[in-house]
Amino acid sequence: MISLSLLRRATPWCLAVTAWAGLTGCQPAASVTPSDTEVLAAETRRPADAALAAKYERSCLSCHGVRGSAPLTGYAPHWTPRLAQGMPTLLAHTREGLRGMPAMGLCHDCSDDELRALITFMSTGQ
Ligand code: HEC
Repeated sequence: MISLSLLRRATPWCLAVTAWAGLTGCQPAASVTPSDTEVLAAETRRPADAALAAKYERSCLSCHGVRGSAPLTGYAPHWTPRLAQGMPTLLAHTREGLRGMPAMGLCHDCSDDELRALITFMSTGQ
């Protein structure tokens, strides 16, 4: 049986790890590493709509189209856990910014519809 004192000693440690994980933006998805081929595919993906593609290139691509801390465009293992939050939450996080992501994903002239379309494109790759 685990003694109460052991549990008491373990608790601050668990909290410290949780706080650290939160600060570093350590999500389950971040632990999955895309291959070079998958990163190359992400670099070349663009939204089909030309106007949206221009905004994507100007704003989201530099973080989401390369290997880094942002979920990679079109790479399902990075997006599946985030999609589970639902579009309203994803949109709110994009508008407000989330840890390493600046507000509006740096697209200050993007409408909500455009941000939704960009999120759908980035999370599905199409
Ligand atoms: C300066 C870098 C940067 C730019 C530019 C950027 N992002 Fe991000 N984005 C990130 C990072 C880093 C994360 C992961 C944040 C985290 O969970 O710690 C992220 C996460 C996200 C998420 C997931 C949010 C969630 O709730 O899990 C969405 C959606 C997103 N970005 C959309 C966009 C869109 C759309 C654009 C372009 C309009 C954009 N981003 C531009 C860095 C960026």
